[in-house]
Amino acid sequence: MKDRKQLSVSAIKDGTVIDHIPAKSLFKVIDILGLDHIEKMMTFGTNLESKKLGLKGIMKLSDVFFAEDDLNRIALVAPDVKVNIIRDYEVVEKRLVEIPEKVEGIVKCVNPVCITNNEEIRTRFELVSRSPVGLKCHYCEKITDASNMVIISSS
Ligand code: CTP
Ligand code: ZN
Repeated sequence: MKDRKQLSVSAIKDGTVIDHIPAKSLFKVIDILGLDHIEKMMTFGTNLESKKLGLKGIMKLSDVFFAEDDLNRIALVAPDVKVNIIRDYEVVEKRLVEIPEKVEGIVKCVNPVCITNNEEIRTRFELVSRSPVGLKCHYCEKITDASNMVIISSS
């Protein structure tokens, strides 16, 4: 039987459940995936207790499915998420995410004089370190890391 104290969010019929999102990254994940532009039923939970993470977030996205490359973009802010694909109420697939070797247009370059911060040019980075994350700018070669990473809003 289910623990009475457990917060329950209803199961979904078809879609994607992204679990174990660090609480501080929930809104960044919403931004990276552009969820505010998708008109589907979605539930978000945040600051839920997790034994592993302290506080975690979860999102349940009905009738929403992503390409692997799009999901991998969230690894920048939520490297340890578990993605569950649901079909007819069953978990049919569990996936992990991985930061892509090339990161385009998600992160701001840390260098204020970089061309991408001064002209309408999409940012481009090469992944130079995975944990902690380090991204080398294609234009100015400066390293943007986890401590100074700013996500470019998709809205
Ligand atoms: N889930 C859902 N709707 C379904 C089936 C599952 O929303 N129809 C959610 C569950 O609530 C859970 C996640 O999908 O958050 C994964 O489901 P499941 O594998 O059954 O749970 P766990 O074994 O707890 O998953 P794990 O330990 O791998 O995170
Ligand atoms: Zn730069």
